[in-house]
Amino acid sequence: MATALPAFDYAPSIETTPVRIKPRYEHFIGGEWVAPASGEFFPTLNPANEETLAEIAQGDAADVDRAVRAARKGYDKYWRKLKPSERAKYVYRLGRALTERSREFAVLETMDGGKPIRESRDFDVPQASAHFFYHAGWADKLEYAVPDGEPRALGVVGAIVPWNFPLLIATWKIAPALACGNTIVLKPAETTPLTALLLAEVIAEAELPPGVVNLVTGDGRTGAALVDHPDVNKITFTGSTEVGKRIRRATAGSGKRLGLELGGKSALIVYPDAPLDQAIEGIVSAIYFNQGHVCCAGSRLLVQESIEDEIVERLRARLETLRVGNPLDKNTDIGAINSRMQREKIAELVQSGLDQGATLVQSSCELPNRGYWYAPSFFTHVQPTYRIAREEIFGPVLSIMTFRTADEAIERANNLPYGLSAGIWTASGQLGMYTAQRLQAGVVWGNTFNQFDPSSPFGGYKESGFGREGGLAGLRDYLC
Ligand code: NAI
Ligand code: MG
Repeated sequence: MATALPAFDYAPSIETTPVRIKPRYEHFIGGEWVAPASGEFFPTLNPANEETLAEIAQGDAADVDRAVRAARKGYDKYWRKLKPSERAKYVYRLGRALTERSREFAVLETMDGGKPIRESRDFDVPQASAHFFYHAGWADKLEYAVPDGEPRALGVVGAIVPWNFPLLIATWKIAPALACGNTIVLKPAETTPLTALLLAEVIAEAELPPGVVNLVTGDGRTGAALVDHPDVNKITFTGSTEVGKRIRRATAGSGKRLGLELGGKSALIVYPDAPLDQAIEGIVSAIYFNQGHVCCAGSRLLVQESIEDEIVERLRARLETLRVGNPLDKNTDIGAINSRMQREKIAELVQSGLDQGATLVQSSCELPNRGYWYAPSFFTHVQPTYRIAREEIFGPVLSIMTFRTADEAIERANNLPYGLSAGIWTASGQLGMYTAQRLQAGVVWGNTFNQFDPSSPFGGYKESGFGREGGLAGLRDYLC
């Protein structure tokens, strides 16, 4: 039984693949590295030790305009004229290049963002190349993707991505955009631009025609300039609900196509007949994967009241076995919090939980002295009205609540403005289906969590956004 075992101590096993990081990165526009118009640069840090990794160009409206013009030219001059089967070869080539350089991408992702190397190596990078391979296959079969059999590209796509899955989410947007014949301007998150910049190097080496993929770095102002640019045909955004709402207002009436993948407060429902070992591992994956920096993180656990004590005890024991520390150590389960700001946000919400009367259970692990860290935690005695039960914490903090009947569990799960994902644990197929059909969530996992595949569409209900990424539904969002 997991509860009886003490944590096994492994010797550190640090990933040693060397990466080259330039001291300074410019924008990648029209196939060339271009200095920012403002001349301004800002640092990107390693959140595990607060050291500066590189200086990054701060993009402004002039840089964005230059990138959009390059993307338009790339579209008119090269990409729209290319035979779809030729487009497919380029997209496939990017998948190959990612696979060949996967270790380098994984190390860079971990250094720049703080996630454990095991995750960037086994999840982020393989999923990213899988998206290129999947969409390469579609490029010359698009007539089967649209009802009238006449697929048309949209033109120039503006993509704004967050810091939780920097390379993967960029790929979710680049791969279908290119496969469908669009060109793209990508704006990575300000704390995690390095893998997108390495991808730009790979794109240059793969000899994609100039302007097909452009990259402008910077903060929210750069993103806003991209949203406002009149010659962008589609904006695809992944990030906070707050910024998503702002983008929706900014694009209203502009004729721009819009896809939003926003926040979540996903529910995990555990019925008393569930295989509990599986449920505990599923819960751990749902909330502690990537330090809880996951839009679909299962951050609300609803357990049937008869099994609450057992689940709480098992989870308390499991917390102690999670290894928190150096993200480059292959044994690490929980890495660094992405930024000081995010760490403060987590601490503030946890304090609100304590103030409102919930009970906090925290791993007794030691946290490193430098960098941004948060011990894996959960709350019991949570009322559905507490902020920790309603707001996205985006950290390794779970709120546990109880229910009596399936209908009550469903009602509680649906009782928030979000609807990104959900997880159900039960031995009964009938109960699982009954629940899944009534949950307002874009993805519902059964007896598992966080399973992804490029052929399976991902996206939300309500304030979690609209539009899909992956699968046929995701593909159609990049076509007229
Ligand atoms: P954010 O939504 O501000 O940032 C996401 C991206 O949008 C970044 O590239 C950023 O530079 C850009 N951006 C910011 N303001 C913009 C604007 N006005 N117009 C266009 N682009 C803009 O997210 P932030 O501040 O990094 O995190 C805040 C909270 O958002 C987190 O604590 C978490 O709760 C949530 N979040 C959710 C994500 C998800 O995957 N659903 C991802 C990141 C954050
Ligand atoms: Mg960084």
